[in-house]
Amino acid sequence: MSSIAFHTFRGSRAKIATALLLTGAVGAGSYHYERKRRQFNNRNNNDNNNRNNRDFAKALFGFSTGTAAATLTDESNVKVATLSDIHSFKEYQQIYNDIAKKIEEEDDFDVDGSAGPNLVRLAWHSAGTYDKNDKNPHTNGGSYGGTMRFSKEGGDGANNGLAKGREFLEPLLKKYTWLSHGDLWTLAGVAAIQEMGGPKIKWRPGRKDLSEEYQAPNGKLPDAAQGPDYVRKFFNRLDFTDREMVALIGAHTLGRCHVTSSGYDGPWDFAPTMFDNGFFTQLQKGVGKGEGQWHLRKWDGPEQYEDNNSNSLMMLPADMALVQDPKFKKIVDEFAASQEAFFNEFAPAFQKLLENGIQFPKESKEFVFRTLDEQSSGL
Ligand code: HEM
Repeated sequence: MSSIAFHTFRGSRAKIATALLLTGAVGAGSYHYERKRRQFNNRNNNDNNNRNNRDFAKALFGFSTGTAAATLTDESNVKVATLSDIHSFKEYQQIYNDIAKKIEEEDDFDVDGSAGPNLVRLAWHSAGTYDKNDKNPHTNGGSYGGTMRFSKEGGDGANNGLAKGREFLEPLLKKYTWLSHGDLWTLAGVAAIQEMGGPKIKWRPGRKDLSEEYQAPNGKLPDAAQGPDYVRKFFNRLDFTDREMVALIGAHTLGRCHVTSSGYDGPWDFAPTMFDNGFFTQLQKGVGKGEGQWHLRKWDGPEQYEDNNSNSLMMLPADMALVQDPKFKKIVDEFAASQEAFFNEFAPAFQKLLENGIQFPKESKEFVFRTLDEQSSGL
């Protein structure tokens, strides 16, 4: 039986933005979508220099506020979050709301009708440069300094397509002039996940903009063409266990690959603006000739997999790695069987990803934001 349904990321609130649920009975090649080939430049790269210099000086030389001292030295592996000028929960909830409403309103951001997936990837790439073995804060990455706004880090091929997300968020920096890039991008990732139906993610403020000398070196983000050993080693560098890394890659339930950004093409599941365990239920079946299994796509692009049922979904080699390694596969099966198990692992792992390399003072509070739906229904 063939059926088409509309999955929206915010239920009735959303316009029919995310129409993408096709069943396996839909024939090969019938899943067409318009590819928007937009050129995005890195307008953000040299933004707001005054603010950067001011914040950089504070962060570098340290200051004491009675609640927390911020110090950042060449000898230190950690970047210390400041409590000095962080704001109230209410104000961060307001920023969350602004982001969530903007996602809802600007439903022409991408072909699936949402900026959400791009914002999740922005948060992850701002943090995924972290290297736990590198003791030099100039090179050890992480989300603290918001350094993707500069041309070297922003211009890393792995970050193609993310200038669009940074531009989308730019008005928020104008409205909340005290907000750092790192706090904004990580908060936007949390807001996007929650608004698309994902788990609640605890979030803490206090990141400060750092200057260009703190840009993470290029090549710190993962290579999608690799297999299980590489994936494990890569995420070990970020201090993650097998369960955490499998859960994190489950974010590929969102969004899609864009030929114009990565060279890869297509979404991972049929509801790319809903945060669910769809990535695992699709991936679980592995490569083969059977129903719902995967084969190598025949095309001129980079090696990627295509599903046998609709020839419209994709998996990266690095995704397929999760069913090639027996230890990973067990976790994939668990998350495919239980969305709750996936959410329980994902939420703290995503928080950890966004906080890697940052020392939060013990007084710092973990904020849990209410979704727009919860607020409108008085929850
Ligand atoms: C081995 C690790 C990973 C590899 C190799 C990888 C690779 C990729 C690639 C090639 C794309 C397509 C980009 C494009 O063409 O626009 C992508 C998209 C995406 N990735 Fe990953 N990724 C990894 C891990 C993660 C993690 C840990 C997260 C978040 C927790 C994540 C979230 C996303 C999202 C949400 C998108 C969709 C973006 C959009 O629709 O614009 N990825 N990833």
